[in-house]
Amino acid sequence: MAERSLRRLRLVVAGLLGLALLALALPGIAGQYPQTTLEPKSQLAVWQNDLLNNIVFWCVIIFVLVEGALVVTVLRFRRRPGGPAPKPIHGNTQLEILWTIAPAIILALIAVPTVQTIFKAAALPKTSLQVEVIGHQWWWEFRYPKYGVITANELHIPAGTPVTFTLTSVDVIHSFWVPAFGGKRDVIPGRTNHMWFAADATGTFPGQCAEFCGTSHANMLFKVVSQPQAEFDAWVAEQKAPVAAPDSASLAARGLVIFQKGLCVACHMIDGVSYGVVGPNLTKVATRTTIASGIYPNDPEHLKAWIKNAPAEKPGSLMPNMNLSDADVEALVAFLETRR
Ligand code: CUA
Repeated sequence: MAERSLRRLRLVVAGLLGLALLALALPGIAGQYPQTTLEPKSQLAVWQNDLLNNIVFWCVIIFVLVEGALVVTVLRFRRRPGGPAPKPIHGNTQLEILWTIAPAIILALIAVPTVQTIFKAAALPKTSLQVEVIGHQWWWEFRYPKYGVITANELHIPAGTPVTFTLTSVDVIHSFWVPAFGGKRDVIPGRTNHMWFAADATGTFPGQCAEFCGTSHANMLFKVVSQPQAEFDAWVAEQKAPVAAPDSASLAARGLVIFQKGLCVACHMIDGVSYGVVGPNLTKVATRTTIASGIYPNDPEHLKAWIKNAPAEKPGSLMPNMNLSDADVEALVAFLETRR
């Protein structure tokens, strides 16, 4: 019997060691995945990560104390074969005071930094770049009122500059989340939420809708491209540069005619061509690296498949299968490729 409890104890110790090793390895593992909150790349994300570490610290202490006391009690006061039944104990004022005060203190140690962080994060910076984030089923619209630029699913920001986001939705509740830069903030119809951060690093970082919003919630991705100011300025200039009409005899020109005569104009805006606001603005669609809210690369093959039958490419897509001929699809792709 003693041997069996020894074996159990060894199992418990092995399990605890395994957990400890996992905890040690976690930062290393997290570094391999871009969608991690454990490598914060903005002040906001650092605050949130510090808060997480603070809470995890107290949780680990509580876990070890409570589970340790449990294991010791179970082993020490168990009924032994042939021995007397353990005597039940009732009431211990000192212990009761202890386990009322200790959690109250720990809760205060968690609550104070939490409230402080909430207030720090909610205080909007005095000067910042404004970006309007609009959630749609199932894609993201980004508007830069200062520049008159509207894009989709790829958020460009200047690194080091505070960016204030005003978050709204045209349909259901979404949630704006860029793990590296912090978050997440709900995007709610009929209400404007705010959030801000300044990116501490340049590079491309994944974002994701973090509130279940229907069939393609999991396909509601976006990218944040954090750039040095000069590169960001160049991107703005590129987005604002006019696009020449395609040569009249070209395939792209035929694509433009199909675009104008078909259903496309009802949903999509192209500066000087159409005024739809239901789908993504396609004025500079060819400058984007992905289509369909970040799930496919933006190349002619994927664009063709998308225009041919969008719901087959992305479940629930509000862009219907318009039963276009292959020739019409090719022409539309040729036209969209000129939008750069
Ligand atoms: Cu939008 Cu989930």
